[in-house]
Amino acid sequence: VADVAVLGASGYAGAIAATLLYRHPFFELRHVTARSESGAVLEAIHPRTRVPLLLEDYDPDVQGEVDAALVCWPHRVSAPAVAALRERGVRVVDLSADFRLRDREVYEDWYGPHGAPELFGDAVYGLPELYRDGIPGSDLVANPGCYPTAALLALAPLARAGLIADVVIDAKSGVSGAGREPSPTTHFISADENMTPYKVERHRHTPEIEQELAVMGAALPITFTPHLVPLAQGELVSSYVTTSREVSDAELSDLYREAYEDERWVEVALGPPGVLEVRDTNYCRLSVHLDVRTGRVLVFAAIDNLWKGAASQAVQNLNLMFGRDEGEGLQ
Ligand SMILES: NC(=O)c1ccc[n+]([C@@H]2O[C@H](COP(=O)([O-])OP(=O)(O)OC[C@H]3O[C@@H](n4cnc5c(N)ncnc54)[C@H](OP(=O)(O)O)[C@@H]3O)[C@@H](O)[C@H]2O)c1
Repeated sequence: VADVAVLGASGYAGAIAATLLYRHPFFELRHVTARSESGAVLEAIHPRTRVPLLLEDYDPDVQGEVDAALVCWPHRVSAPAVAALRERGVRVVDLSADFRLRDREVYEDWYGPHGAPELFGDAVYGLPELYRDGIPGSDLVANPGCYPTAALLALAPLARAGLIADVVIDAKSGVSGAGREPSPTTHFISADENMTPYKVERHRHTPEIEQELAVMGAALPITFTPHLVPLAQGELVSSYVTTSREVSDAELSDLYREAYEDERWVEVALGPPGVLEVRDTNYCRLSVHLDVRTGRVLVFAAIDNLWKGAASQAVQNLNLMFGRDEGEGLQ
């Protein structure tokens, strides 16, 4: 048994992380924190969690007593808390963007000054399907962003085969992607029965997707446009790829079968996936198609942004860090 804490358990991602860890056969959930709602019981705020633990104020000397922590805070406030936990020997999965980028200048361009520069570059990028070997030995795992999770799983086989000459990534997310803090665009009145692109040309997941595509051999600028859609949870990422040479249907099927036949959480479907098929699960469900008329390859990937895009992927990473079965507590 290993003792764990969830920082930011009153948030959307943190609440699911707490739910999964509270009922996990190996991890013992010892602490959950909140800022404004500390002192309340988690399940009183989020009844679906069924976690009867008291939300505590953050105090690294209290939550730093555990073996591992999931930090479910916003970027920039996360980094100093991660540093305080690491100083106390706590192994961390950070759900924010603070440790995902490898180049500090790129981080600071998109996010501003880094809150724990001494740890910059220490983290393993926690997409288990790509970095499984590096995760067990790591004390700091940077849990990927939700859009990068779906986009990279969709594009990895093509990137590794050197087949991406250009790609347009068109993505849709439910409203929980924006977190629990109310805002005019995510207000029910604006979001319901509506659909809008947002952060056009400047969404912060752009450099993260570009970074990881480059690691796989596809170093190119991408066009990435997310849209807000009237769903609570769920994300669909559609990628339109101009290939570097002609490909056949058979080659595509082989590429995706070989990449994912042993991956328990990635389903390669024959027809396009829908978000309901992965809701409240750790699955990424995708399909790949050759558009014979244009020669473009189309890849569609669906995930639950709060699960595979955040909390359940964090638990998948934690399982790997502790040498457990990767799917423990996620079935
Ligand atoms: N939502 C998603 O789909 C998704 C997907 C992937 C990654 N993530 C990342 O996961 C993290 C959490 O996201 P979320 O959607 O769960 O956000 P959220 O619902 O807004 O929750 C954020 C949590 O952090 C706490 N918090 C906020 N500001 C804080 C501060 N300055 N100091 C201490 N605690 C603070 C909040 O406490 P209060 O409630 O008291 O303010 C809450 O517990 C973010 O880094 C986000 O980018 C989210």
